Amino acid sequence: MKLSGCVSLITGGARGIGKEIALTFAREGSDVAITDLNLEGAEKTKQEVERLGRKGIALKVDVSRFDDVTSVIKKVLDEFSKIDILVNNAGITRDQLLIRMREPDWDRVMATNLKGVFNFTRSVAREMIKNRKGRIINIASVVGITGNIGQSNYAASKGGVIIFTKSVSQELASRGITVNTIAPGLIDTEMTREFTETLRESLLKRIPLQRMGHPEDVAKVALFLAGEESSYITGQVIHVDGGMVM
Ligand SMILES: NC(=O)c1ccc[n+]([C@@H]2O[C@H](COP(=O)([O-])OP(=O)(O)OC[C@H]3O[C@@H](n4cnc5c(N)ncnc54)[C@H](O)[C@@H]3O)[C@@H](O)[C@H]2O)c1
Repeated sequence: MKLSGCVSLITGGARGIGKEIALTFAREGSDVAITDLNLEGAEKTKQEVERLGRKGIALKVDVSRFDDVTSVIKKVLDEFSKIDILVNNAGITRDQLLIRMREPDWDRVMATNLKGVFNFTRSVAREMIKNRKGRIINIASVVGITGNIGQSNYAASKGGVIIFTKSVSQELASRGITVNTIAPGLIDTEMTREFTETLRESLLKRIPLQRMGHPEDVAKVALFLAGEESSYITGQVIHVDGGMVM
């Protein structure tokens, strides 16, 4: 098993990509802390982690609230004594053309998608520095590279995650910690099931591999970045998008 004896913390682990990453890591031997705004969903993921024979803990937290994040990380450390792998996955969209975008749509997306990544990384990095070992994996989006109509807030937040990753990877490399980003394209989750059929079809036309991605496609790359095989990779953006953006 690739993550035997490891402890992982996944944000937004109640469903979708975060849940799949939690279960993939558990199958590879990691104990998993699942955090989410949706405690009921996080509890379900935890039960599935336990059915795979690993320890789990489910905690409710809004990633955008610094003090709450600090106390959640303390609880995880009380339970597991260390955190080897952090996956910053929680994210939201509030799509609107710029001219119609309301200030709360901007603020909420930035607070969740970008400040949330800062909040968790800042607190977990202290522990990883002490252990001189760690893996941080941030889930951005191809939209953070290309931009997109109706998603200026989301694209700016994900572009921010990419450049945050590059900066922090340079700060933490000498402490044995790697920091990388995954940029998914169009992945079949509840987030994208809200899209209209017309939008999904127009997006599909832009994917050379001619299908939507599955959460497993992202989880497999997260596993690679969490494990030993990627020990010489840091500060990178890995696209999981069927060739959508080259
Ligand atoms: N699905 C896609 O096509 C796609 C594409 C590119 C990037 N992504 C990114 O991948 C990540 C996961 O996406 P998904 O499709 O699984 O989404 P999802 O909506 O299915 O799951 C997101 C999870 O994050 C949680 N969450 C939202 N706001 C939170 C907050 N403030 N605090 C704590 N938890 C919060 C939600 O409760 C939910 O469980 C997101 O960052 C998303 O932007 C998804």
